[in-house]
Amino acid sequence: MNKLLALSLGSISLIAGKLQIMGGINYFRKHQEVQIILNEIALHDKTILITGATDGIGWETAKKLSKAKSIIVAGRNIERIKSQLNNYTNIQYMYLDLNDLDKVQQFCEEFKKSYGKLDILINNAGVFNLDQKYTKQGFEQNFGINYLSPFLLTYNLLGHIPNEQESRIIFVASRAHTDTPRQVDFNYYLNQDPIPYPWHKTYGISKLANMYEASSFANHLKGTNIKVYSLHPGVVRTNMLNQFQFYSFLAPFIWYFTKTPEQGSVTSKFLATSPNNNLKNGYYYKDCYPKYLKSDDNVLFNNTIKLLQKLGYIK
Ligand SMILES: NC(=O)c1ccc[n+]([C@@H]2O[C@H](COP(=O)([O-])OP(=O)(O)OC[C@H]3O[C@@H](n4cnc5c(N)ncnc54)[C@H](OP(=O)(O)O)[C@@H]3O)[C@@H](O)[C@H]2O)c1
Repeated sequence: MNKLLALSLGSISLIAGKLQIMGGINYFRKHQEVQIILNEIALHDKTILITGATDGIGWETAKKLSKAKSIIVAGRNIERIKSQLNNYTNIQYMYLDLNDLDKVQQFCEEFKKSYGKLDILINNAGVFNLDQKYTKQGFEQNFGINYLSPFLLTYNLLGHIPNEQESRIIFVASRAHTDTPRQVDFNYYLNQDPIPYPWHKTYGISKLANMYEASSFANHLKGTNIKVYSLHPGVVRTNMLNQFQFYSFLAPFIWYFTKTPEQGSVTSKFLATSPNNNLKNGYYYKDCYPKYLKSDDNVLFNNTIKLLQKLGYIK
């Protein structure tokens, strides 16, 4: 009996200890968020482009950055935010379809004509397809929309990003990058032939590609002031999550462990507004913390350049 009591008390104190540690961490994080607010860069002269900002995390990020001179929210469907756009004179919408590399090219040309410079680029748009689909040019769609088109968009707009202290590029990746095979052969995805479809892996692979993309663009831009980051926004209750059938079934349980879109935009805002000197170039961030640098020695970057050159999208 005494043994049982001692065991129970031991477990309780263990749990209490863990809760204390978690509470401490949370306190520290909140404290850090105060630091974040105190250390924001000035946005009044900044032009910011956010892809996939017609909904979810992207739109919340746009609202959080609304002190900027200009924010361009890009996507295919303005309807969801049309009425809200009236509240912000400095937020403009531009049509962008990442499903088609030709449209990405057109978008970049129009952007360059309309805006003199681009200080902060946030590649946020993304899909998590549950069925087999291909982009206009025949690439698997998770990979095409989440990785390949944002790569072309970023590459095309590089010359428009000023070589200034607070210029930056951000890729919204995901923790799903951990749900991938140990060795990913990206050549399989940089290919217009149909592929067998392990959808749950392909989304994660596209997000791993976003992390490699961030570290490789950081390398590519070495010696300039332009810095590059990737991030996990958390598990966020947006349309992306709502499409899963288990979501409606487990909604109350999932609700407890997930973030609102507003909370999901915190790390994007943190990376967009913290001074570059306080951040780690090329790193993947989670909950406003640098988790690690994922690098493949620029292999995917170089192969993507070769592919886009072969297809005539870049010189
Ligand atoms: N929600 C999560 O739990 C979670 C977790 C980890 C990472 N993420 C990442 O966070 C980012 C934002 O996701 P979210 O949760 O906010 O999803 P969401 O609410 O579904 O928003 C996705 C956005 O991407 C845009 N988009 C989709 N297809 C597009 C296309 N072909 N061309 C241009 N834009 C397109 C959509 O705009 P239009 O429909 O107007 O085109 C929409 O604005 C994604 O990169 C996602 O992978 C989300």
